[in-house]
Amino acid sequence: MFNSCSSKSKLSTVNERVDTLLTQMTLEEKIGQMNQYSSFWDVTGPAPKEGSAAVQFEQLKNGLVGSMLNVHGVENVYKLQKIAVEETRLGIPLIFGFDVIHGYKTITPIPLAEAASWDLEAIELSAKNAALEASAAGINWTFAPMVDVSRDARWGRVMEGGGEDPYLGSKIAFARVKGFQGDDLSNPSTIAACAKHFAGYGFTESGKEYNSVDVGTQTLYNVIMPPFKATIDAGVRTFMNSFSQLNGVPATGSKFLQRDILKRDWNFDGFVVSDWGSIEEMVEHGYAKDEKEAAQLAVEAGSDMDMQSLSYVENLADLVKSGIVDEKLIDDAARRILRVKFELGLFDDPYKYCDLSRESKILGNQNLHNASLDMAKKSIVLLKNQNQLLPLKKQGLNIALIGDLANDKTSPLGNWILAAEKNSAVSVLEGLKSYSGNNVEFSVGTKLNTGALEFAKELKINTTDKSDFAAALKLARTSDVVVMVLGEHGLQSGEGRSRTNIGLPGLQQELLEAVYNINKNIVLVLNNGRPLVLNWANKHIPAIVEAWQLGSQSGNAIAQVLYGDYNPSGKLPMTFPRSVGQVPIYYNYKSTGRPTLPSPGEVFWTHYQDEENTPLYPFGYGLSYTTFGYKNLKIQSQTDTSIKVSVEVTNTGNLEGKEVVQLYVKDHFARPAQAVRNLKGFELINLKPGETKTVQFLLTEKELGFYNNNGDFTLQSGEFSAFVGGDSTADLSTNFSL
Ligand code: BGC
Repeated sequence: MFNSCSSKSKLSTVNERVDTLLTQMTLEEKIGQMNQYSSFWDVTGPAPKEGSAAVQFEQLKNGLVGSMLNVHGVENVYKLQKIAVEETRLGIPLIFGFDVIHGYKTITPIPLAEAASWDLEAIELSAKNAALEASAAGINWTFAPMVDVSRDARWGRVMEGGGEDPYLGSKIAFARVKGFQGDDLSNPSTIAACAKHFAGYGFTESGKEYNSVDVGTQTLYNVIMPPFKATIDAGVRTFMNSFSQLNGVPATGSKFLQRDILKRDWNFDGFVVSDWGSIEEMVEHGYAKDEKEAAQLAVEAGSDMDMQSLSYVENLADLVKSGIVDEKLIDDAARRILRVKFELGLFDDPYKYCDLSRESKILGNQNLHNASLDMAKKSIVLLKNQNQLLPLKKQGLNIALIGDLANDKTSPLGNWILAAEKNSAVSVLEGLKSYSGNNVEFSVGTKLNTGALEFAKELKINTTDKSDFAAALKLARTSDVVVMVLGEHGLQSGEGRSRTNIGLPGLQQELLEAVYNINKNIVLVLNNGRPLVLNWANKHIPAIVEAWQLGSQSGNAIAQVLYGDYNPSGKLPMTFPRSVGQVPIYYNYKSTGRPTLPSPGEVFWTHYQDEENTPLYPFGYGLSYTTFGYKNLKIQSQTDTSIKVSVEVTNTGNLEGKEVVQLYVKDHFARPAQAVRNLKGFELINLKPGETKTVQFLLTEKELGFYNNNGDFTLQSGEFSAFVGGDSTADLSTNFSL
């Protein structure tokens, strides 16, 4: 019984307790631990009497369910946990998973936006706060962080990751896991993290959701894997595999990924959950002949828990009894799952996340909102500021605020908002109005979307109704400055939301041009979950602010940046293309044999006939209301395997500001050949006007080496260059050899 487990000596280790429990479990109960269901009935209502819900309810009572997802709120979690603990034979508690991706109820910026802060402490704190709030609502496991590197802005899920770079992505992955899990998983304010989606999902072909992934070993080992490895280094307790195939093998059925790399090479002793239904989807992939074989292939490959496909609970016992699947695999999976439950302290107190007074004290409290606001300001990237149109004066201006998104209180919350209240974000209109010195008038300009907002349904974009144009143009005509809030709705990026045209959706581009014809003094504030194509805006609009989807405090953060109460410091974590035809476009590409134009007009070099090679805004790019100068890049010291460089950075403007000092390394020749440059260090510094700081970077074997095509890490001697500056095009450089 559960109670006999909990009374075991406190001194016995988690592993001993797990092993003892395993000896008491039937095969079916062990398989039950590997079975996860999404909330299948209204827990506060009557027990289900018919259909699949009734079957699942019986399974729950018989100890055949190990975890639930999408059940949240103390009351709901408590009721289910009580069934597991009091009605099943062994009383094994459930682990409750939830997509706490950018906050729980208090919503923080989407992960791509947070990545733009390059502020690892702030990112860690944001995850810590999310864990605090979610744990107070009964949750003890989040399906985050998503650490999929992606170079494809067409893919809607780039909003959920750390961008295109494996180095920055690894630092962020580490910080997020530390934030969620802290140093002690049994602390009731921390929750287990889940590194997802293992592996390759961000390279989905043509940016199309759920598509196949075919990548070579260089990309796999040097680009895709590092952030996952960073989560291991941070002690992550769970992994989620991926919907996608990797080189012909669905990730869910990949022994190579789950057993060889994750569990053998990386020594991971937590557990792997499948993605939603991804075990049975191996049949549709054309990989397994039926669901039974899919269950076999998945368990053999090392997928420990089945999210919602029912394949394990329906097939594994038969597969073991008929000698097809070795029971040791079941023991291994159940052991891993139980271990994490023990570590969370669920066997000592299964209701430790079910404290109603804690829930009411913590959910949505002011501290969480203050932290969300701070994170939101840090996530904003200033893309253009011609003639210092920004910051705006706080007095005496007539401001026209135009755009559907300017008055939207749901879209800024972004995509993963299952526990958030709709209509709860501070809008830009509210944010600007909270400064009373100016006269702010709002006009919608054009409706962005029509119809209902549903997480699982396509959003309908308005492409025909221009009836609101006239009023907006009239307002623009008589205003000193026009602030236009345009971009994507929060439900236009995220899972299932790939796009081929990544300009401003609907009629917004037309509206922007129409307003521009009347009043050129425009500040364009962008809301989006992915890089957009903004050529026209970049050419014509004097000031552009990238404000992503910033969460509950969005409008306040934007207002503080527009008025200069916060000096923007964000830098792009993904390249912004000039044209969707350039995608995938990223700064750390490989050279070709013909990288430069041989003579004017010649065609035989790497280029497009109709577009430049360079992006519109490069990775790492972002302006400030002040300016920074870089000089005296020096090699301070060197050994056979490491090198220390330093650079002086000066605030050359008139305002205090923060700069992300970035270091890139080029390995001039290597086998296999390496990228033209790779980010290998960064530091966020604050400088007063006129102040200079010396920033040092230590490059060790870890930064200077790479993985070869066998997956072995190697450091090769040769010639290198270090580049330092404020974005990935930095040209202040010094050379060294190893
Ligand atoms: C997503 C996962 C998510 C899971 C549970 C899936 O559709 O791909 O990232 O964690 O659903 O909601």
